[in-house]
Amino acid sequence: MSSQISEAVDPKALRAALGNFATGVTVITACTPDGDKAGVTANSFNSVSLDPPLVLWSIMKSSASVKIFDQASHFAVNVLAADQINLSNHFARPSDDKFASVDYENGVGNAPLLPDCSARFQCENHERIDGGDHWILIGKVVAFDDVGRSPLLYHGGAYSAVIPHSGAKPQVAETDASGITEKLLENNLYFQMIQAVRRYQASYQPLQLATGLRTIEARMLMTLNDVGSMSAQSLEQLIGMPDQDLYAALETLKRKEWVAQSDDSLSLTSAGNAQAEALWKISIDRQQAVFESFSDDEMATFQKILSAIQ
Ligand SMILES: Cc1cc2nc3c(=O)[nH]c(=O)nc-3n(C[C@H](O)[C@H](O)[C@H](O)COP(=O)(O)O)c2cc1C
Repeated sequence: MSSQISEAVDPKALRAALGNFATGVTVITACTPDGDKAGVTANSFNSVSLDPPLVLWSIMKSSASVKIFDQASHFAVNVLAADQINLSNHFARPSDDKFASVDYENGVGNAPLLPDCSARFQCENHERIDGGDHWILIGKVVAFDDVGRSPLLYHGGAYSAVIPHSGAKPQVAETDASGITEKLLENNLYFQMIQAVRRYQASYQPLQLATGLRTIEARMLMTLNDVGSMSAQSLEQLIGMPDQDLYAALETLKRKEWVAQSDDSLSLTSAGNAQAEALWKISIDRQQAVFESFSDDEMATFQKILSAIQ
């Protein structure tokens, strides 16, 4: 771990460090009085004030959509749900008409509202602030929908989903005298699966980070080693990450001469395969250590159940 305090901060390193701050993912839309529409995938959205009800987000000054947000009287924040990765990728790619192939309805000021989101906030423009290479747009919420669908997250350059924190193991003293609460929790398979995944992750992740690779780079190497050569688009779909992050991570892996690209086909070099095999060994060793007390039959049943409920 290194810290950088200097005038000349490396933007790539700063962006990677900021990626430790997990966010939701939104598509922010607007429409001009002439009917021109914009939609931009944005994770810079945040709440500002409840009274008055204000929210903000920031848009790159170089974005083609800036002029539409300038001319529009309102914008709508569509908070994406976990199953809306395709919408996130769609609105993160420049395109002449992002709405041609997308369902939407018109909200206040004709800002497009997308269906099946976790929440939607319709805002009138309140203030625009200069924020370096971005404009910070503050909106006053005039209407909203609170659907509560499980949200899509963005963390470490990849999409993620919420697993509720299971807290500490429940103490008998905190349950009622009959112990019923504790039994219900302890026998609840959803709760048990969450506990198991979190504990597994807590013991595995430090081993993988100790290799000096980011989680996303490790996953790319392991996937390419497992599946063989594939297009960048297939890798992006298998791993669940936006284009911009995929290409940034690929550049790092190519610079290290672990990944080679010919036309659109990505494959590992022999050094890349060696690195991927070292990562697979960490993963397999961890799996063996966690499950060593179970017989082959028990493991076969466990795997059968896991495949059946996926
Ligand atoms: C997860 C994610 C978050 C993003 N957040 C922002 C953001 O907050 N502000 C921004 O200007 N661009 C953001 N982008 C990039 C824009 O979505 C992308 O540049 C898009 O092409 C802009 O649309 P335009 O080219 O039609 O203007 C993000 C992209 C992704 C994948």
